[in-house]
Amino acid sequence: MKGNSYLPRKIHSLLGVIPLGLFIVEHALTNYSAYEGGKEGFSDSIDLLNSLPLVLWMEIFLIWLPILFHGVYGLYIAYQSNINTGRFSYGRNWAFTAQRITGVITFIFIAWHFYETRLQVALGNVSHEELGQHMNSIVSDPLAFTAYIIGVLAATFHFANGLWAFLVSWGITVGPRAQKVSSNICMVIFVIIAALFLLSLFAFRGDEFASAAATALSSVSVG
Ligand code: HEM
Repeated sequence: MKGNSYLPRKIHSLLGVIPLGLFIVEHALTNYSAYEGGKEGFSDSIDLLNSLPLVLWMEIFLIWLPILFHGVYGLYIAYQSNINTGRFSYGRNWAFTAQRITGVITFIFIAWHFYETRLQVALGNVSHEELGQHMNSIVSDPLAFTAYIIGVLAATFHFANGLWAFLVSWGITVGPRAQKVSSNICMVIFVIIAALFLLSLFAFRGDEFASAAATALSSVSVG
């Protein structure tokens, strides 16, 4: 690590867990309400989020700016680092490389996802009430659906594997036994968050989220 990069590296590392780690959990749960509660459950979750005081400021300071810093600085770290340095055991070397590759995929995915969803809401092209239907029209396209699956798996793996690295780099898990236990816990976290996202993607594809016109059309063609 270069001498003058200590502080930005620490800020980058901290932002990955707080607030971004908390955000990915919140986002997975909000989306999962589409699977558990259908159209109504999802719109209740969206309403709840939008009823929070200072919601736009929270988005700016707890989500957008941290992602921008962590993402751009992360690209710089990934670009600078020597993949396969042989500094670690095979397993850790693999995880080190995977952290960088999933970081790049996550960056591209978040930029695209932000453009398609949050930006369209900000521009007034999609209302909060139409978000479920909007997601339905996006993921009904098999190519976009596949891209979403890859994107959420990459982002979730990046978070869980990053949490493992965070616990080591902040001196929380020190010995090999602690690191082994935390590795198992982080992989369970990966599986749970990934399952929440995948179930919600399948829910958004369902008929319930299709627009009224599209549903009418499909029932005509079935009938
Ligand atoms: C936007 C695109 C992103 C890029 C390009 C990126 C890149 C990176 C890179 C290269 C590292 C490794 C740093 C190191 O080993 O020193 C890293 C670590 C990490 N990232 Fe990201 N990341 C992105 C988004 C995210 C998001 C959305 C989250 C949260 C869910 C996140 C959570 C983490 C965590 C927890 C770490 C581990 C920190 C540590 O090693 O102490 N990242 N990221």
